[in-house]
Amino acid sequence: MQTVFRGRHFIDLEDFTREEVETMLDVSADLKLKFAQGIPTPYLRDQSMFLMFFEQSTRTRNSMEAGFAQLGGHAGFLDSSSMQIAHGESAKDTAIILSRYGHAIACRYCNWGYGNKYLNEMAKWSRVPIMNLQCDLYHPFQALADLMTMKEKFDGNLNRLKVSIIWAYAESHKKPISVPVSQVLLFPRFGMEVTLAHPKGWELPDWVIEKAEANAERYGGTVTVTDDEAAAYRDAHVVIPKNWGNWVTDQTGSAPAGAVKVVDDALKAHRSWKCTEEKIAAADKNVIYMHALPADRNNEVEDSVIDGPHSVVYDEAENRLHTAKAVMTLLMNGR
Ligand code: CP
Repeated sequence: MQTVFRGRHFIDLEDFTREEVETMLDVSADLKLKFAQGIPTPYLRDQSMFLMFFEQSTRTRNSMEAGFAQLGGHAGFLDSSSMQIAHGESAKDTAIILSRYGHAIACRYCNWGYGNKYLNEMAKWSRVPIMNLQCDLYHPFQALADLMTMKEKFDGNLNRLKVSIIWAYAESHKKPISVPVSQVLLFPRFGMEVTLAHPKGWELPDWVIEKAEANAERYGGTVTVTDDEAAAYRDAHVVIPKNWGNWVTDQTGSAPAGAVKVVDDALKAHRSWKCTEEKIAAADKNVIYMHALPADRNNEVEDSVIDGPHSVVYDEAENRLHTAKAVMTLLMNGR
């Protein structure tokens, strides 16, 4: 078991070994059990951190804010539009100042071409851990909670699990690619047979697939990329149908102002990529349906699926709390 985390940044799970990710899951499970029993866990008492958001959030903000309070600290919420960032203050100056006031800085910045660079610039100057609350490339807290959920639902047996990450139609907003990117990189490291299915034109970047394949090669998983949606559902143990925006042909949302709603003819042509009961019936009889949420109900998924017996979306969302607490504890109070 690897246990040296103190002071490290949490921007991409690829920066942590498989053993270190397993430690995060062990600590998450311990914190979850203590929370269930009402046992206090004031591991970060008197510490303060900052939660900076360039975009909206329900789960991420509140799992961090509630989680940090449960660890005994205080997390200050910062809307970037009301910070001096809105007047052009740099990532460097913001990181240096906030790191003098507290013990960690967490940030969500999803805009394509900006978010990950911004986080890494802050990490370069901050004296305290920088945590990625989702950027244009990665959503490590989500992928970790997904892994915890799968481990729970399959009694810890992740090896050879057939997991399908499937593009789905949505109209609500142009969703970042960071969730499927983090999932397709992480799951093969745990020996899973990962299928990534999407219509032509919604590819993830080549470097992501190459890295995912290298992870599969190293850890005994597999990665299959297809535009055959039916094949992705067939016999799957886990299905994760979720929209992501077309970063290849559509660079809107790449200005600092924020992501925008994009519903054009190219998108509408793939309306049929919805998770339905009929598609779920082709999967393994014990298949679980996962979604990071928020879901675009009746576009990405039928109500009868997300509210049905295969759905674990609320357990998955709950695990955002326990995994967030584990990461904060390890990075801010560990060895
Ligand atoms: N899954 C997720 O990150 O949810 P929020 O956008 O509500 O934080």
